Amino acid sequence: EKGGYDHFMLKEIYEQPRSIHDCMRGRINLEDQLVSLGGILEYKDQIVNANRIIFVACGTSWHAGLVGEYLFEELARTPVEVEYASEFRYRNPVINEGDVVIAISQSGETADTLAAIELAKSKGALIVGICNVVGSSISRATHCGSYTHAGPEIGVASTKAFTAQVTVLTLMALMIGREKDTISNERFTRLLIDLHNIPDKVESVLKSDAKIQHIADIYKDAPNALYLGRGINFPVALEGALKLKEISYIHAEGYPAAEMKHGPIALIDEEMPTVVIATKDASYEKVVSNIQEVKARKGKVIAIVTKGDSVVSGIADHVVEIPKTDDLLVPLIATIPLQLLSYHIAVMRGCNVDQPRNLAKSVTVE
Ligand code: F6R
Repeated sequence: EKGGYDHFMLKEIYEQPRSIHDCMRGRINLEDQLVSLGGILEYKDQIVNANRIIFVACGTSWHAGLVGEYLFEELARTPVEVEYASEFRYRNPVINEGDVVIAISQSGETADTLAAIELAKSKGALIVGICNVVGSSISRATHCGSYTHAGPEIGVASTKAFTAQVTVLTLMALMIGREKDTISNERFTRLLIDLHNIPDKVESVLKSDAKIQHIADIYKDAPNALYLGRGINFPVALEGALKLKEISYIHAEGYPAAEMKHGPIALIDEEMPTVVIATKDASYEKVVSNIQEVKARKGKVIAIVTKGDSVVSGIADHVVEIPKTDDLLVPLIATIPLQLLSYHIAVMRGCNVDQPRNLAKSVTVE
């Protein structure tokens, strides 16, 4: 059942070229330049014309929501808020007519997310679901939605469900942006092509596994780790840190790279590994200076860089190259090496990666 892999988590990491492909299947049409999401068609106008979109989710799904915020703001120019379901449900959130709530959940059973949906529904919002499990409680509680179609995720640490969630969010943002005319035709076309090519690029990143295993071996005994990213890759840093802490029990923090000097920089010493997403995008130069700040304090840097980068490889202790894609799609690729790094470190530390202590696959209690 693990298909020859040692753990479900590794199998699910390796399934991502296929799961991302399955998630897009029938939803993008390169010839006709169309994005179609059948499950939300009936409510399309309401979603396109939303005054505000509020994502509610927990854990890794909340990180997908943060990526969604960048995608929706950039492509659809819709104001977005991203809320922890557990906080949202106990506040007195301002929800107006014309607001759309998008609930993101792999299992579709998370109690806090379900309660957030019920609250928003009672205030008249349209509720859209992004779930992986067909027929789950959340998918039934929503007005409409798009399944992620990633296939069953058994490992407790979410991997392929996350990249599928981000894929659906990209498709939604493209669909809305197209309708609202907030994306140029050129950008729309380029994004569709780049999206279509993501599975192959993920496949090529998986080939760096031996190198990542080598890096894991060097840092497996670190007591702490810092993950940094900017812009749309800030949530990728959060997700990388969550993956490491939940399966290897190493304390890890994700930060927007520029926030480092407002506190976490105090932690940096020779022992401390910092994982940085330093791909060639709008914030590249700034991230390079953040890396220099870490190196000036003798920290160790593991950088995720764009293939062919020669600047960061001269400064960082280790680099993992990923193929070039549109800035907005980098999270789909940059996440992969971070999943592998956590996996290998956890295995080397003798942890039960598929069933980490104290964690459950579906959190059906609050
Ligand atoms: C982390 C992880 C959890 C879940 C969270 C929400 O790897 O799996 O943080 O993401 O419990 O679960 P779902 O998406 O099922 O609502």
